[in-house]
Amino acid sequence: MSIVLGIESSCDETAAALVTDGRVILAQRIASQDEAHRPYGGVVPEIAARAHAERIAPLIEATLADAGMTLDQVDAIAATAGPGLIGGVMVGLVTAKALAMATDKPLIAVNHLEGHALSPRLADASLEYPYLLLLVSGGHCQILLVEGVGRFRRIGTTIDDALGEAFDKSAKVLGLGYPGGPALERLALQGDARKVPLPRPLKGSEEPHFSFAGLKSAVLRAKQSGEYADADIAASFQQAAIDCLIDRTRRALAKAGPVNALVVAGGVAANKAIRGALETLAEAHSLPFIAPPLALCTDNAAMIAWAGVERFERGQSDPLDVAARPRWPL
Ligand code: KG4
Ligand code: ZN
Repeated sequence: MSIVLGIESSCDETAAALVTDGRVILAQRIASQDEAHRPYGGVVPEIAARAHAERIAPLIEATLADAGMTLDQVDAIAATAGPGLIGGVMVGLVTAKALAMATDKPLIAVNHLEGHALSPRLADASLEYPYLLLLVSGGHCQILLVEGVGRFRRIGTTIDDALGEAFDKSAKVLGLGYPGGPALERLALQGDARKVPLPRPLKGSEEPHFSFAGLKSAVLRAKQSGEYADADIAASFQQAAIDCLIDRTRRALAKAGPVNALVVAGGVAANKAIRGALETLAEAHSLPFIAPPLALCTDNAAMIAWAGVERFERGQSDPLDVAARPRWPL
C-alpha cells in the first residue's frame, strides 16, 4: 500500500490530506478563510498568503495526528504547484519541498486543475478514462476530456467570467453576501424563472465555450430597473445559467467523441438545479452521471493527494527545484 500526503493552498483554503492507493482518505483537514475575505467581497491575495503561512504547518501535523501517523510512514508528498494565487501556492509548495527534503521522500508537483479532474476517480473506482469533465467553480469554468493522468483535452472554456464568479457577482447585486452561490440558489427556489428576460450568451454557437459577463450585467440592469422581485431575478439568472451550461455541455459531448461518463466537479456542482439538469442530459446520452461528494468537488487536499497517488503509481515525481506556476493550463 502507498500513502500520499497532499497539500493545497492555491486559493483561500489551506488543506492537507492523507490518501492511500486503495482510495481511502485516512485523514483530511481544511481551514477555510471565508471569514477573513468576507469584508472585501472576494479573495485578497496578500491576506490569503499570510493565512496559509500561519496555518499550514500545524494543519499538516494535525492531519498526521488524526491518522495516527508520522511523516516516515508516508510514501510521497504532493502539493499544488499552480495555477492559483502565487503567494499561497508558494507556501504549500515550499512546505512540501522542505518535508520531502527532510524525509527523503519523492515530491509530486500537482496541477490544481488535474486534482479536480482526477478527484472523481477517488470517489468512484469504476470510473475509467476517458470521461467528459465539467469543472465549474469560482475560479474555473472548463469542459475537459480526461484521457488519462496528464492527458487532457480542453474542449471548452469561458471567454470571460467563471460560472461560480457569475453566481457570486449576481448574488452581490442582490445583496446576498460572499460567497453568494449557495444563497442565490436558495433565493431562486422562491422565484419564478420566467419573470425576468435574461440573455443566454453563446447558446447555439459552434465551439462549446462559455460567456457569463453579459448575463451578470443583465442581472445588474434588472435589479436597477426596480421592476422585478429579487427572487425572480435569482431564479431567472439561475435558469439562464443552466440553459447555457446544458447547451454548451451537449455541444462538448458531440465534439469529444465516445466517453464513459459525464462528470461534474468544482464548487458550483453543489447546486441542485444544475446537478439535476446535467443528470437529465447524461441520461439522454445514455451516460452515467457522476458528481463526487461535495467535499471532493470544492477545493480540498484529498484531490491533490489522489493526483499524487495516480502519478506515484506511474513512477512520476518532480525535482526539488520545481517552480510554482501562477498560470498553468492543462
Ligand atoms: O471549488 P470552490 O470551492 O472554489 C473555487 O472557486 O475554486 O467553488 C466556489 C464557488 C463559488 O463561486 C460559490 O459561489 C460556488 O462555487 N457555489 C455555488 C453553490 N455552492 C458553491 N454556486 C451555485 N450554487 C451553489 N449551491
Ligand atoms: Zn479549485
